[in-house]
Amino acid sequence: MPSPLQQLQLWLDELGQISDEPGRLTRTFLSPAMTRAVEQTASYMQSAGLTTRVDTVGNLIGHCASSAPKAKTLLLGSHLDTVRHAGKYDGPLGVLLPIAVMAELQRRGVELPFHVEVVGFSEEEGVRFASGYLGSRGFTGQLRRRDLELRDGANLTVRQVLEAHNGGVFRRPKAAHRRRDLLGYVEVHIEQGPVLEAKGLAVGVVSAIAGQSRFKLTWRGKAGHAGTTPMALRRDAFAGVAEFAVAVEALARGTRGLVATIGSVQVAPGASNVIPSEVLHTLDVRHADDHTRLLALQELERITKRLARARDLTCDWQATQNDGAVACSPELTKQLERSVRAVQGRSLTLVSGAGHDAVVMSRHTPVAMLFVRCRDGLSHHPDEFASPQDIGVALQVMLDFLQKLAVRD
Ligand code: GLV
Ligand code: MN
Ligand code: MN
Repeated sequence: MPSPLQQLQLWLDELGQISDEPGRLTRTFLSPAMTRAVEQTASYMQSAGLTTRVDTVGNLIGHCASSAPKAKTLLLGSHLDTVRHAGKYDGPLGVLLPIAVMAELQRRGVELPFHVEVVGFSEEEGVRFASGYLGSRGFTGQLRRRDLELRDGANLTVRQVLEAHNGGVFRRPKAAHRRRDLLGYVEVHIEQGPVLEAKGLAVGVVSAIAGQSRFKLTWRGKAGHAGTTPMALRRDAFAGVAEFAVAVEALARGTRGLVATIGSVQVAPGASNVIPSEVLHTLDVRHADDHTRLLALQELERITKRLARARDLTCDWQATQNDGAVACSPELTKQLERSVRAVQGRSLTLVSGAGHDAVVMSRHTPVAMLFVRCRDGLSHHPDEFASPQDIGVALQVMLDFLQKLAVRD
């Protein structure tokens, strides 16, 4: 029989093979590969003694009931979707590791005085609709009417894909749990940055998560013949975007702690001999301090106005996501740190620059996060890697954490 760590590695490898694109790992909201990944993960949950269900926004929930009277529920989880050409740890680690923990507790005959739900969120990355957290928003009753109107690359709305998922009817769900019935939400995730590696530590505890804003910008100019239209007479939408991209980078480089990214660009009509008339691109802006992020956004809006005026273009902004910085629960974090010290000898707290389901969950219940070192701090890349030894430390920390929480409870 494989050890919990060996089992977890097998699951990570298997899930890492389930993709919408041949030869690389990509799973987006309610895609065929996501459906297969949910089915596969549900089978792991069932093998660990959890009962499973899929909710109306595609979240997979594995439930382990406690026989204790008036038991509350502890939520553990992360997301099952990925970025394009992803690594296999970002998201799935935080779903699969708690399943391995629950299987091990069951093997040891440990009964917890609280229910545990392991959640595999259906959408966190924001790849398909340029807006993240659709899964956790749905799970906590925070899905907004405007989220349903977002469109993907095939011009389908969130509402349409949810209707297809639910066989025709979709109503925005209420929260799966009342706040007072919850103990909190704990998410295990690779660090996606270099701090733990630099400190020589396998795991660390998150104190806060940076805020982030995402937009779709549409620039419009005029198409024309690339051979006959003199440069001075052009209204080239892509040239405006190119200048904007350099300005975005300069602002972020010049503002301590600010990061800003244009990660996806579509140029229309999209022919080598036609002047671009329309460009649609994403913009992702983050900072640990909300005020600094909002000031940067004001400045970027001013820059688009100036560039559009100078080039006789128009530029429309559509906000797709706006989440302020989040502080983790001091109490849950303290308990997690205690377990980290028990297993690793030393605990380190760090701020997350990446967004996590914990951001949305924090509006509904106290949250804590455990980070696992990843090689070269690399993530959102197929070479993303966390060592089995480090994952083993995280596994021990979570076993210790749940058992200590059981005593406290
Ligand atoms: C999620 O991975 C993010 O982009 O922060
Ligand atoms: Mn993630
Ligand atoms: Mn990610």
